[in-house]
Amino acid sequence: MMRPAATAEAIVDALRQGLVALDASQRVVMANPAFCEMFQTDPTAIQGKSLFAIHDGVLDIPELRIVLEDSLPSGMPSAELEIRPTLPHVGKRVLRVRARRLHHVLLVIDDITERERQAEALRGSEARARAILNATADGIITTDLHGVITMWNPAAERIFGYTTDEALGRKVTMLMPSSQDSPQKSAIEHGDDHGGFIAWFRDAVPRIIGQTAREVVGRRKDGTRFALELAVSQFYDEKGLRFVGIVRDITQRRHADDDERQRLAELVRVHRVSLVSELGVSLAHEVSQPLAAIVNTLGACARNIREGKGTKKDLLHLVNRAINESLRASEIVRNLREMARGRPLQRQDLDLRALIERVIHLIARHRERHHIGLRLALGDEPLQIHGSAVELEQVILNILQNAIESILESRRSHREIAISLSKIADDKLVEVAVRDTGVGIPSSSMERLFEPLFTTKPSGIGMGLAISRSIVEAHGGRLWVAPGEHNPGATTVRLTVPLAPQTTRPGRTRRRNVA
Ligand SMILES: Nc1ncnc2c1ncn2[C@@H]1O[C@H](COP(=O)(O)OP(=O)(O)O)[C@@H](O)[C@H]1O
Ligand SMILES: [Mg+2]
Repeated sequence: MMRPAATAEAIVDALRQGLVALDASQRVVMANPAFCEMFQTDPTAIQGKSLFAIHDGVLDIPELRIVLEDSLPSGMPSAELEIRPTLPHVGKRVLRVRARRLHHVLLVIDDITERERQAEALRGSEARARAILNATADGIITTDLHGVITMWNPAAERIFGYTTDEALGRKVTMLMPSSQDSPQKSAIEHGDDHGGFIAWFRDAVPRIIGQTAREVVGRRKDGTRFALELAVSQFYDEKGLRFVGIVRDITQRRHADDDERQRLAELVRVHRVSLVSELGVSLAHEVSQPLAAIVNTLGACARNIREGKGTKKDLLHLVNRAINESLRASEIVRNLREMARGRPLQRQDLDLRALIERVIHLIARHRERHHIGLRLALGDEPLQIHGSAVELEQVILNILQNAIESILESRRSHREIAISLSKIADDKLVEVAVRDTGVGIPSSSMERLFEPLFTTKPSGIGMGLAISRSIVEAHGGRLWVAPGEHNPGATTVRLTVPLAPQTTRPGRTRRRNVA
């Protein structure tokens, strides 16, 4: 059995805190190993010395003097005092000191430098995180495992209309439209119960994490619904698994996209009208031909009837001819009108080859009248793509119109437009190439061709290629111009459009080795 004094001594020696006993004049009576270690000294060196003399006075700190000399009541521990001396060999430390007057004055010293440093770092990163949370335009929301909101930043206040106080502690489901106020289910809700939602959230996290944000529907405090982009991630804090959702109000962006689309659609429409009215002059001329033929045929018919000449069969033949000419005229007019008006803009599955044939047909007379030949290599199978027929017809029409105008300008004897269609890029794309024997494009204009309003024609508008390129790119393709390869000075305009994924037809299935 240890004597009480020995026990006390053992405890003092084992303490990790530095402990020093002082007499009434602050001279060291005893110091424990932790104290000696802290101050890089040994008991004999400081025995009987003033505390304030150790290491040339590292502890000679005014606050400490006040505590020790005057105001230390008997028996009561002093308030904690934090001092920051620079110690020999170890440098600047943060020490927490408590004093107590018993028989001697006992001084207990805690080295809290590391703890301080960690707290400091934490405060720093917390302050940084706070600053980011407050400044970011994205709503940042954290929830616990049960969907209860544990953090809510100012942007989330702005986006959803709930203040931080209102949001904290409530379920994140209040931010999502419930099935009552949305007949069609939004992507974010999954079942009406919160449990279902949380399950969705939890299941979704592994799938969403590391992926780009997805668009979902949100609900503001006032009940209005809006489009938002949601990215979800997870983390652990001292209370366990947490989810963090980063939300961005994309209503504005949606509007901007819509505006952009509408502007383009309007531009496309205006351009189409101008394109058709340009063609219209020559097409009006085409219509007058069948009309004249009709007048002649029916005139002959009337004459025959009046004079009692010709058999019934002859008369029928003349009437049929008149009917055919009428159909031809009305078809020209109808094509023109449809082209100008534009059928409703819709993406649909369509055959690009048939589309090109329609446009060729539309300008056939115009082309023939100017004695321009046509060489076609359209292949013999339909080429299915997904897109807007009206828009793509306009692109082809514009390219052909440019080709004709260029040929008319050149006055060369070889007048020809060649159109070819081919599958490229492992049958993923179809390429249309339109080559003409016109004036060609000087390299100085090459770069500016696609600029809106760039034209070299006296009455040109300069929108054709610009609009055509936007249309083709909106279809996931490209449009570019290369100087003619076979014919110096001639031009080839090329465009690509993605082919619709092949539906396998029995007997025509092509097998490929999949690596
Ligand atoms: N096939 C072509 N051959 C020569 N130049 C062309 C051809 N296609 C387009 N260009 C040039 O590109 C310019 C812009 O064409 P476009 O955008 O259709 O506007 P516009 O036909 O109203 O001038 C034309 O003015 C012309 O200089
Ligand atoms: Mg043009």
